[in-house]
Amino acid sequence: MNKFNNQALAAFLLPNSGEITKENIVTLLNTLIQKEHFQRDFYEWCHYMLPGPCGAALQDHVEEHMKDEMDHTKYLQRHIIHFGGIPILERLPVPKVESTLKAMLEKNLEMEKEAVQNYTDTISLLEPLKEFTALRVDIETVLSDEMEHVQDLERWLKECR
Ligand SMILES: [Fe+2]
Ligand SMILES: [Fe+2]
Repeated sequence: MNKFNNQALAAFLLPNSGEITKENIVTLLNTLIQKEHFQRDFYEWCHYMLPGPCGAALQDHVEEHMKDEMDHTKYLQRHIIHFGGIPILERLPVPKVESTLKAMLEKNLEMEKEAVQNYTDTISLLEPLKEFTALRVDIETVLSDEMEHVQDLERWLKECR
């Protein structure tokens, strides 16, 4: 069994455990899946609600982000099944924000920044473990999408002031 290198990260990502096993990696991946669903659902709500001409101009781009989040869920699901786990489908309620473009974009930006942090932490957790190399490589792909999402949202917030 491998011990976590970073106990603070381990406590955050995998409560109730001090070791990396396939079972608690499944728990971690399910937490990340639930966050992907959460972000996807919020993008969907924003896609319907985006107000004003700038909002209308962003609709297709927001839909692209929504599709990316669905792809991320698929990556994570594949690894969960490979590790003998069951991907969760339970959804969290969509966050309630003011129906202004600024409020919607700011909330999305906050969630994307959290995703970047979570995937960065997950990569550093998996880095020393050869048996999780394939998972780490997929998570690096997901992380690069999330970093692009952050850049897009920061740009849209500037353009749509
Ligand atoms: Fe994502
Ligand atoms: Fe994202």
